[in-house]
Amino acid sequence: MSEARETPQTIQSRKGHEPIAALTAYDYPMAKLIDAAGVPLLLVGDSLGMVVLGYPNTTQVTLNEMEHHVRAVARSKPRGLIIADLPFKSYESPEQALTSAQRLIEAGAEGVKAEGGLGILPQVESIIAAGIPFLGHIGMLPQSVVQEGGYKVKGSNPIQKEELLADALGLAEAGSFGLVLELVNAQVAYEITERVSIPTIGIGSGIGCDGQILVTTDLLGTSSDFIPKHVQPEELLRDRMMGMIRVWRKSLSISKQ
Ligand code: KIV
Repeated sequence: MSEARETPQTIQSRKGHEPIAALTAYDYPMAKLIDAAGVPLLLVGDSLGMVVLGYPNTTQVTLNEMEHHVRAVARSKPRGLIIADLPFKSYESPEQALTSAQRLIEAGAEGVKAEGGLGILPQVESIIAAGIPFLGHIGMLPQSVVQEGGYKVKGSNPIQKEELLADALGLAEAGSFGLVLELVNAQVAYEITERVSIPTIGIGSGIGCDGQILVTTDLLGTSSDFIPKHVQPEELLRDRMMGMIRVWRKSLSISKQ
């Protein structure tokens, strides 16, 4: 394996040639494992709010918390590209988006991701104009889960399909280096992938995307509360971990002198 570090360009160059693997990383040891397994894109996702911090959804994650986890991942010095999520309410205006993105870059991220399409284009443009690589995220937007009343597949009706296509084309035109498609109708995800010049990275959006991203704790079966339908962990590692803890607990004895 080449030692060269991944960049937004090396990720883009895989479109049409090689599937892009991406996983979430929230801490130093997991980032090391993911990187050693050859995954070229590590996302410090705000899903950490649910799978690491115990929040009910991602809307309570703060920029300070994101910086803390980005620093931990960056200390692993991965070969893969580190992208960090801009958390809820941290990109309400172009100015705020840029300041928040700069804080994540100072913490060690090499690019940022935010949720939304044409509605956040001014924010995306201000981030890209400052030279910060940007990864788009459309489809089901977890930061809007409270307004939307749940995690629902997007693109299944013609209006949503047209909106998604317009969002994808707008983000690509603005200079995003890639696009996450979350819970997008599989046929629509395929059509978007065909239409945009940048790579699409799907999650629960079928096999027609240029790559796939998963929440690592779902893949490993260590998420404690819920594992989404689109992930079938080979094994629930959390059961094995609990078994090891039980074996250790039962092995304890008090030495009587
Ligand atoms: O926060 C996250 O983990 C994400 C994903 C795309 C998995 O945004």
